[in-house]
Amino acid sequence: MRIIIVGSEMTPFVKTGGLADVIGALSRELAELGHEVVTFLPLYRALKDKAAAAQCVSNNIRVPMGGRSMVGAVYELQLGDRQRVAFVRQDELFDREGLYGESDHDYEDNAARYLFFSKAVVASIPALRFVPDVLHAHDWQAAFVPLWWSRTLAPAWRLRTVFTIHNLAYQGLFPRRQFDLTNLPADYFGVKGLEFHGQLNVLKAGLLYSDVLTTVSQHYAQEIQTKEYGCGLEGLLKSYRGKLHGVLNGADYTAWNPRTDPHIVANYDSHSLANKVTCKRALLETLKLPVERAWAPVIGMVSRIVEQKGYDFIAETIPQIVTMGASLAILGEGDPDLEKRLQKLADRYPTRLSLRLCFDEALAHQIEAGADMFLMPSRFEPCGLNQMYSLRYGTVPIVRATGGLADTVEPYNPGTQTGNGFSFEACTPAAMLAAVARALETYRQRQHWVRVIQNAMACDFSWRKSALQYLSLYQMP
Ligand code: ADP
Ligand code: GLC
Repeated sequence: MRIIIVGSEMTPFVKTGGLADVIGALSRELAELGHEVVTFLPLYRALKDKAAAAQCVSNNIRVPMGGRSMVGAVYELQLGDRQRVAFVRQDELFDREGLYGESDHDYEDNAARYLFFSKAVVASIPALRFVPDVLHAHDWQAAFVPLWWSRTLAPAWRLRTVFTIHNLAYQGLFPRRQFDLTNLPADYFGVKGLEFHGQLNVLKAGLLYSDVLTTVSQHYAQEIQTKEYGCGLEGLLKSYRGKLHGVLNGADYTAWNPRTDPHIVANYDSHSLANKVTCKRALLETLKLPVERAWAPVIGMVSRIVEQKGYDFIAETIPQIVTMGASLAILGEGDPDLEKRLQKLADRYPTRLSLRLCFDEALAHQIEAGADMFLMPSRFEPCGLNQMYSLRYGTVPIVRATGGLADTVEPYNPGTQTGNGFSFEACTPAAMLAAVARALETYRQRQHWVRVIQNAMACDFSWRKSALQYLSLYQMP
């Protein structure tokens, strides 16, 4: 098949979260399965160096943006035999310091930026020397693609449009006046169109106009049809349940594999766990935590510091976690208030809590390898990648049983010695603490602990399976 993938980030070019890993791995996996893949990204300043060798395909991609027309260019970079990346260049919109904003403020023209991007992707398809069978767009930043396709090129050739929701909490909501930028007839602004309580909702373009709708785990596909998780779109999603599918993300084991990971001091697998201890000691040293406490459990966390990830629970319970005997290694950045709360605690417990408020790819790998447990007390989690990485690193996940966390982590049962981690249901600090206590108790029982680690490391969430599921949706009659 000839497949176009559209998203706003992709490893190894530019990444703020899991979306980048997914777009990167899915594109590569589909190409490895023998399909031809072109992945579209905006040409941000941050990736200009990595895109330096890209060739200009067209410097005259013209799209209407409200009352005026805007011009952009498309550049292409060959990644493998069957894989290309196409960059949409429009320096006024994308040659900036940040991706979505700067110093905690979203750019005010994000509607214009991503509507332009989506329209420009569709407008550049005829320039690609490639007749696509599938157009697969991801998240609100690319949600306008299926709609614009249906209004502009669809009459000329048929293909299947697929839209994937990675996080329903980000819908691309903008003031009504920005609707002009869509260049759609006025009747598209209504509850049956792109309106959401008087605002423009860009995500709805993907929900309404794609042939197939997916989200990144089975559990989340069910959850978003309920009031608790639907972010106001549960009614619409329920009415679309016939075309809504849950496809669990994979883990990219070329990048996340303790046997080959170049970021860690000692590589290991389930037969050489002594090297994991070497990684733990190195981690403690890097984080300036006392290495002589290497016998005690270390709980790692790597994620955006936002409410979704349950950091308020963490801030509330750190004194208890410390009293229970564990240390914490936290890496992330995000909400300034949460960061401040955590910083105060880090100042209070300098030998037990390490807090790094930055984005650090290498340290993320070192925490995966060096920690004993990995905590993800998410309020909601469409899929979550770190629990899958943790499993492969023998770093036992402790998760709230929601979304993809519920689909990948099975609580350890000491009776049957089955299960790969620990989980809790209620969205409360007390429930989280109880799960942490169960994990710490098991850590003290060496035989059981080794069993959980072995069970965890034996799990296989490779991308092949997920990519095959997408292919069957691409091909579904
Ligand atoms: P989300 O996409 O909601 O942020 P995921 O679990 O799907 O959550 O993916 C997060 C990805 O981003 C993981 O690969 C994680 O390692 C990475 N990540 C998040 N924060 C940081 C950080 N501060 N430094 C390095 N990597 C990070
Ligand atoms: C989103 C979700 C996360 C998911 C990622 C990749 O950012 O928050 O749960 O793993 O997308 O699909």
